[in-house]
Amino acid sequence: KTASMVDPFGRRITYVRLSVTDRCDLRCRYCMAEDMVFLPKPEVLTLEEMLSLSDAFIARGVDRIRLTGGEPLVRKNILWLIRALGARVRDGRLREITLTTNGTQLPHMAHDLAAAGVRRINVSLDTRDRETFAEVTRRDRLDRVLAGVAAAKDAGITVKINMVALKGLNDHEIPDMLAWCADEGHDLTLIETMPMGSIDDAREDRYLPLSGVLPMLEERFSLIPSLHRTGGPARYWDVNGGASRLGLITPLTNNFCAGCNRVRVTCTGRIYMCLGQGDHVDLRAALRSEDWRGQLDALLDKAIGAKPEGHDFAVSSGRMTGTVDRHMSVT
Ligand code: GTP
Ligand code: 5AD
Ligand code: SF4
Repeated sequence: KTASMVDPFGRRITYVRLSVTDRCDLRCRYCMAEDMVFLPKPEVLTLEEMLSLSDAFIARGVDRIRLTGGEPLVRKNILWLIRALGARVRDGRLREITLTTNGTQLPHMAHDLAAAGVRRINVSLDTRDRETFAEVTRRDRLDRVLAGVAAAKDAGITVKINMVALKGLNDHEIPDMLAWCADEGHDLTLIETMPMGSIDDAREDRYLPLSGVLPMLEERFSLIPSLHRTGGPARYWDVNGGASRLGLITPLTNNFCAGCNRVRVTCTGRIYMCLGQGDHVDLRAALRSEDWRGQLDALLDKAIGAKPEGHDFAVSSGRMTGTVDRHMSVT
């Protein structure tokens, strides 16, 4: 069966975010607790299972796969999976294989990633100030991340910086981050923090609506709305005549669910139809069974048929609502 996956709202699913591990070498406050308990190994899909699953999605019309985590590059032998997916880009079965990474492993992995067929990555970098970095991630690794970003650029990989806007922590750095990105030729995406998990009490106070940043940035940069699309939720502006692009991801102030084309799969093989909602279908048992292809197709139909219209994240009187009881690090 090769039918494409269309949800009840007529949206075609062509983009899968696959979390390859729940582990990470950083502990960003909005993403993880300091004392995270990681999943036991048998619960986590093997890389072979992840490749089979990817092929099942490709057969159903998925043409972009983004590996996430946790930190995808701390998964042992991850290059094996990336090379296999890179081969599917080369033979035209996939449009792209991308990663969202914290950058710490890039100094030694960037060239291998490029050789495997990765053309574009998103690197999480909320600040270029060493102390702020240590405060946000609870680890003193800024230099490594910056070296990693440089290594990726050097390897010919297009870098987009992901910056979660955190009131009172990094908001004053936004213009300088954009100037640095424009100088270096990186795109920059600003992200509103989403109420995932119950991680940090201070997080509500860190929420910064992005609706005000465009006028602020326009005082210093030329920003022209761009038709550029990555298949993701960001809307983009060309910065200073094309030096780089600014993207905004605004689940709270400007909902983008109507154009959603994606599903997410955890490293344990659960498919979540929406980031902002708890419903999921467990694919692991099917994947580990004898006639897994048939079983998987039926489960995918069930999952896509239950994709909700959108998330319930909202802000009311300055408080975030629609909280999801699940850490970002597993999706
Ligand atoms: P590209 O557009 O392909 O570059 O990817 P992306 O920006 O979607 O991926 P990335 O992993 O860099 O995610 C950036 C931010 O967007 C993260 O905070 C994600 O959680 C958020 N995000 C990605 N997809 C969705 C979605 O479907 N819904 C919501 N609410 N947020 C999303
Ligand atoms: N809200 C918004 N973005 C988040 N990220 C992690 N947790 C959150 C959250 N609660 C971002 C990371 C990374 C991307 C995958 O998601 O910074 O760039
Ligand atoms: Fe690790 Fe990314 Fe979560 Fe930070 S946001 S703890 S880098 S997975």
